[in-house]
Amino acid sequence: MRPSVIAVFTLLSCVCGENPGVKVVLTNKWLQYVKHVGAGWVQDKLEKITFPDISGDVNIHIGTVYYTLSGTTVTKCDLPEPVVEFSQDNTGVKTSIEGLSVALAGDWRTNFGLIHDGGTFEMAIFSMSLTSVVQLGKDSDGHLSVSSLSCDAQVGDVDIQFHGGASWIFQPFVDHFKGHIVDMIQSQICPKVQEFIVSVESDLQAMSVSVNVSEVLSFEIPLTDPPVIEASNLKMGLKGEFYSIKTHMEPPFVAQPFTMPEQPDHMLSVGMSEFTMNSASYGYFSAGQLQALINDSMIPPASPVRLNTSSMGVFIPQLPKQFPNLLMVLQVYASDSPMVSLQPGLGELGLQVGVIAYAIEPNTTQVPLFKLSSISKFSGKMWIADQKLKGSVTMDNFTLTLVSSEVGTFKTDALENGVKMGIKMMVLPKLNTLLGNGIPLPQMKQGHLVNSVLNIEKGFLDIYSDVEIEPAERNNNFL
Ligand SMILES: *[C@@H]1O[C@H](CO)[C@@H](O)[C@H](O)[C@H]1NC(C)=O
Ligand SMILES: *[C@@H]1O[C@H](CO)[C@@H](O)[C@H](O)[C@H]1NC(C)=O
Ligand SMILES: *[C@@H]1O[C@H](CO)[C@@H](O)[C@H](O)[C@H]1NC(C)=O
Ligand SMILES: *[C@@H]1O[C@H](CO)[C@@H](O)[C@H](O)[C@H]1NC(C)=O
Ligand SMILES: *[C@@H]1O[C@H](CO)[C@@H](O)[C@H](O)[C@H]1NC(C)=O
Repeated sequence: MRPSVIAVFTLLSCVCGENPGVKVVLTNKWLQYVKHVGAGWVQDKLEKITFPDISGDVNIHIGTVYYTLSGTTVTKCDLPEPVVEFSQDNTGVKTSIEGLSVALAGDWRTNFGLIHDGGTFEMAIFSMSLTSVVQLGKDSDGHLSVSSLSCDAQVGDVDIQFHGGASWIFQPFVDHFKGHIVDMIQSQICPKVQEFIVSVESDLQAMSVSVNVSEVLSFEIPLTDPPVIEASNLKMGLKGEFYSIKTHMEPPFVAQPFTMPEQPDHMLSVGMSEFTMNSASYGYFSAGQLQALINDSMIPPASPVRLNTSSMGVFIPQLPKQFPNLLMVLQVYASDSPMVSLQPGLGELGLQVGVIAYAIEPNTTQVPLFKLSSISKFSGKMWIADQKLKGSVTMDNFTLTLVSSEVGTFKTDALENGVKMGIKMMVLPKLNTLLGNGIPLPQMKQGHLVNSVLNIEKGFLDIYSDVEIEPAERNNNFL
């Protein structure tokens, strides 16, 4: 292919929209678990529901009786396990409940001419069924959106027993007006369902698609595309990009496409691309956070080499002659953004670090001595055990080169070996102890992750897991 053709293809691939940096897959197992928890929640809600008054009239041959049923509460509710499924055709979720029966109780009042009467009633509603289809999408800000696509409610039959007053007079006429009551109940179910969906939608709208994860970094997670729904799962692609809050600079690399393996035995999987990780390190880098001053008091006491001009004479023979017995300070900075690259089972980290060494005169003036540049490569493994993220890191390569010197040129081999030894014997053991103890997995407010597994794949991390929703949260937001 000619370069111009390649350029056109590159442009085209950019026009096709951005690749997600993070992918979330919710499986049918998740849906069934949420349904199970949700059914308990709905049952609780139904038992606390307050019914609006039902009014109507009935002709009892000698005139018209006006009736009102009020203070209606649920006394018993038998919610059969609903059927909930991903609906590929509707890019949404279909819920159906068959054979729901509810027992109610309340007060009745009648007006028949000047005669006012009243008492109590019991009502049973039989064979209610409800089918609701919600559609999932993405709004212009990248929020997940839900809307009601269809709702159908049917009430099979009602049975009413009136007690007190002159109820014996109109009890025989129940068959004449229960049709009206069936209609009233039937017509109120779908608006209630709609109301609930609208409240979920406004919760989703209120969710921020950008979160500040530290003082330095924000994390942007709008959907890149509408969710993709199949019978077995729901897939969402999120931008998944970290930015420096201060600079909000775009990194000089873009997210590459990746495909996660199907994990139907787990409720959810989260794939995080190396792009997402590298955007975090670029965020720190572009905010100027990846630099430090190192002085002698930071060198471990066990180190045989001190950060002073006499001690450094081992590596740079002319140094103690030109600057005898002075403390030194090192200005260490990332000269490029650290880059992570993921291979099956392994993560690699490349660091490019610059070092400027100064001698500190007794009057505290810092005199520049020399400038070094180093390229190092680390590789690490990561896994999840005891619900903690654990890992281990080894150093694969470390090279040191002299960039410039105020004290004359010197060979860096000895210094390179010295630093290598220092990293291997002092830095990595500490880091590996930390990683060996593990970092607790981030937990959601509504529940916690169980049976989590982490895999490193080419270009991305794949975490798949089950969730356990806290009983206390079941009455709340179970999504
Ligand atoms: C993040 O922090 C910045 C600066 O402190 C602030 O302006 C911004 O509103 C914060 N964003 C969120 C989502 O909290
Ligand atoms: C080294 O730096 C630390 C932190 O900046 C400081 O607290 C300490 O006093 C310094 N030590 C020397 C010997 O300058
Ligand atoms: C420099 O380090 C040596 C040990 O290598 C120590 O004996 C000496 O006192 C140190 N000098 C200063 C100025 O800290
Ligand atoms: C500090 O001392 C050095 C050498 O002893 C000298 O060259 C320099 O001018 C002094 N700096 C100040 C600010 O006095
Ligand atoms: C280590 O780095 C040097 C210089 O960059 C390179 O020549 C060498 O091949 C690298 N070794 C490994 C094992 O990557």
